[in-house]
Amino acid sequence: MDLSNVVDEIKNRLDIVDLLSGYIDLKRTGQNFKALCPFHTEKTPSFVVSPDKQIFHCFGCNAGGDVVTFIMKYENLSFPEAVRALAERAGITIEQESARSSATTTLRKRLVEMHKDACAFYESELGRNAQARDYLKERGLSDETIGVFAIGFAPGGNQLLKFLKAKGYAESDIVASGLCKDTERGKMDTFRNRVVFPISNVRGEVIAFGGRILIDNARAPKYLNSPETILFKKSSELFALNLAKTDVRKRGYAIMMEGYLDVITAHQHGIKNCVAPLGTALTEAQAKKLRTLTKKILLVFDSDDAGIKASVRALSLLYEDGFVAKVLLLPSGDDPDTFLRKKGRDAFQQKFRDVMGLVDFYLSLSGERVDIVRDLILIISRVTDGIIRSDLIREVSEKTGLSEQFLREELNLLRKKPGLSRSDRKNAEPMSAEKFLLGLYLSYPEHVHLIKESITPAEIEDRSVRTIFEKLYFLSVSKLEEITAKLNEQELAIVTGASMGLNIDGEEVEKNIRDCIRTIRYKKLKKRLRDLEMEIRIAENRGEGHLINNLQDQMNLLIKEGVADEGVL
Ligand code: UTP
Ligand code: MN
Repeated sequence: MDLSNVVDEIKNRLDIVDLLSGYIDLKRTGQNFKALCPFHTEKTPSFVVSPDKQIFHCFGCNAGGDVVTFIMKYENLSFPEAVRALAERAGITIEQESARSSATTTLRKRLVEMHKDACAFYESELGRNAQARDYLKERGLSDETIGVFAIGFAPGGNQLLKFLKAKGYAESDIVASGLCKDTERGKMDTFRNRVVFPISNVRGEVIAFGGRILIDNARAPKYLNSPETILFKKSSELFALNLAKTDVRKRGYAIMMEGYLDVITAHQHGIKNCVAPLGTALTEAQAKKLRTLTKKILLVFDSDDAGIKASVRALSLLYEDGFVAKVLLLPSGDDPDTFLRKKGRDAFQQKFRDVMGLVDFYLSLSGERVDIVRDLILIISRVTDGIIRSDLIREVSEKTGLSEQFLREELNLLRKKPGLSRSDRKNAEPMSAEKFLLGLYLSYPEHVHLIKESITPAEIEDRSVRTIFEKLYFLSVSKLEEITAKLNEQELAIVTGASMGLNIDGEEVEKNIRDCIRTIRYKKLKKRLRDLEMEIRIAENRGEGHLINNLQDQMNLLIKEGVADEGVL
């Protein structure tokens, strides 16, 4: 049985109320059960379990899901681990994997040791391979830099596998390290004919590698990372953090770049407070690793579309996590590596004069003015430090002409919306009309056609709720059990929250649906009116008289439409 069948079988055999009773004290309330939430501290129960729907949802911290999700969260297990644990309990046998090695801690030790050996092996292989050495030289790297970063070369022919076996490592450990993989043609080295960059944790233990091909071609990926192992989770590691940490402290900020070579070249040029994520967008876990070192981050990205998008994402994540971040955009087509090699360290540091703060960066973006200002206010609303928040509001006010009072009003409106800032998420919110409609959709299959005829997912404002509706419409499913497997954790929490405890008299369902849809349209209209108001204020401030008239006309038209549309206004 594979894992997804196992999950179905688990759900057939294990009842959520029985299972959860083993962990928490459930009390019956009507159709459902209630308990103090095990996932956050609370004095009055907001954790609800539905035996009909076989789901749980906490209205306090917004955790939700099914039996598997519960065990994952409660026991802190990965999905496969949770499935295994539950399968065992339900008496389901999963195909046996190779016998588990003793304790995880000793496995971890063996894998760290193995990475150290592999690193030395790759370094000595670089000594034997002139082509790889030439490649690194061509990329401007000195022997010293190659040594500091312990750059190596992974040859073909599964030589690492042979080397590690000769050293006495067990094959199962070698595969668990990610350095070799099991394939149809037997065990093979993960990295073959690539220059390899060791990836270390903050303590300086090598825990993975990144490998680059020597000659770019369309058939193979340019870079390859070690797979996820017990040592390595790529979304929570930063390249070169161990080498950068002293200088990050010394200089008081960290520079975030995009790639291995950017960081390595910067270090070679004496700019040593640089790190990079491992080929993905910056994550919260990565930011967390920097937090003990500094609260200031400079993002240095390419000024192309991708670089700007990456900056926008990283900025909002960082501000929400209590950092202050700035952006340096290099000329289009340049990354720190090419820029430094062409123009040198001084020119690079001259560029620091063009560093943009949050407000300047956002106001320089192309796009609808109102959307940009609103995005900016949204980020500011998430900033937890009151002084930073006030400074930012003042700056936005100075640079847009919108009064601080107007900005604060906007900010408060945004803050009232559910699911915006983390602290807000903790407070139970009255359910939005959109979520209520979702609950109706999932609880009353016989009325799904009415919802589908009356509203399209595009009209839904909340992005996550919209995505769920898109999936529901597209997959043509209307039952809770059919959709849960297709949702991520956040979406699952929305679905469980929306469906929990919905109990409407058959006659009333249709009326509720119509009311919901009217509310959704009303709110949307209100928002558009407020947008126009904001645009008009900005235009007034800039003396753009012609634009003002145009905006006024749009506003009048909207109001007329709103009145005509079944009395939405
Ligand atoms: P880039 O494509 O911007 O390349 O990838 P780069 O860093 O400039 O690489 P060079 O200069 O051509 O050697 C940025 C980062 O994205 C990840 C790597 O971490 C890389 O450093 N990446 C890129 C991958 O993981 N896989 C790829 O196929 C490409
Ligand atoms: Mn590059």
